[in-house]
Amino acid sequence: MEFDEVVLGRRSIRGYKSDPVPKDVIREIVALATRAPSSMNTQPWHLHVVTGEALDRIRAGNTERNLAGVPASREIRMHGPYEGKHRQRQKDIAAQLFEAMDIEWSDKERRRDWVMRGFRQFDAPVSIVITFDAELTDNDIAIFDCGAVVNCLVNAAWSRGLGCVINGQGIMQSPVVREHAQIPDNEVIMSCVAMGYPADDFAANDVVSTRRPVDEVVSFVGYADEREARA
Ligand SMILES: Cc1cc2nc3c(=O)[nH]c(=O)nc-3n(C[C@H](O)[C@H](O)[C@H](O)COP(=O)(O)O)c2cc1C
Repeated sequence: MEFDEVVLGRRSIRGYKSDPVPKDVIREIVALATRAPSSMNTQPWHLHVVTGEALDRIRAGNTERNLAGVPASREIRMHGPYEGKHRQRQKDIAAQLFEAMDIEWSDKERRRDWVMRGFRQFDAPVSIVITFDAELTDNDIAIFDCGAVVNCLVNAAWSRGLGCVINGQGIMQSPVVREHAQIPDNEVIMSCVAMGYPADDFAANDVVSTRRPVDEVVSFVGYADEREARA
């Protein structure tokens, strides 16, 4: 695939075939993903690929704790609920997904079911838990580096016919993930990525999320036409 085709075609996948993802395919994707740049080439990331019974135990543990009302325990700092324009964008993508899935906003049961699917990592056959070296805790650059590798990972997967969703929900109960993904003590859990072959008949997989227009995101400084406009 051409770069544009990958970047413009990729979208988050939340419905998967049960087909396993061969280790060699994952190795190829990880080899591409880890070409991501990192601060001074420190490459602080680790990718723990979890499948089968270990992943089922994570799903079960996440479900049980969330149903029991156990508060989230992530290993990274979190903001509170989004507000203002960020909250609006969060609501917009939720509305797109619910419309695709035919879930009415008033239908609390189906909305809850959707949230629980997220805690089950959307029943994907594979979850990749991203961690970074614990000696870099409180170092925001390591978090930035993890973002770079994850972006590369989801695009590399797409280029090989696989779908992903970055899944913050999946690591909200980090002790469960730490135990069953066998994360060593000297690593911090950053996030996880659900991965697998996209299901053909899952409407949310077709949702194309919106983006702010380029001219709202970018500011140009020092260009001749900008100087002329100010003169
Ligand atoms: C840090 C991060 C955490 C995310 N966590 C979740 C999640 O828990 N559940 C979910 O359905 N999507 C999650 N997403 C996916 C975003 O909702 C998605 O990337 C965004 O809406 C843009 O859609 P697209 O990926 O289809 O372009 C997460 C994305 C990021 C970057």
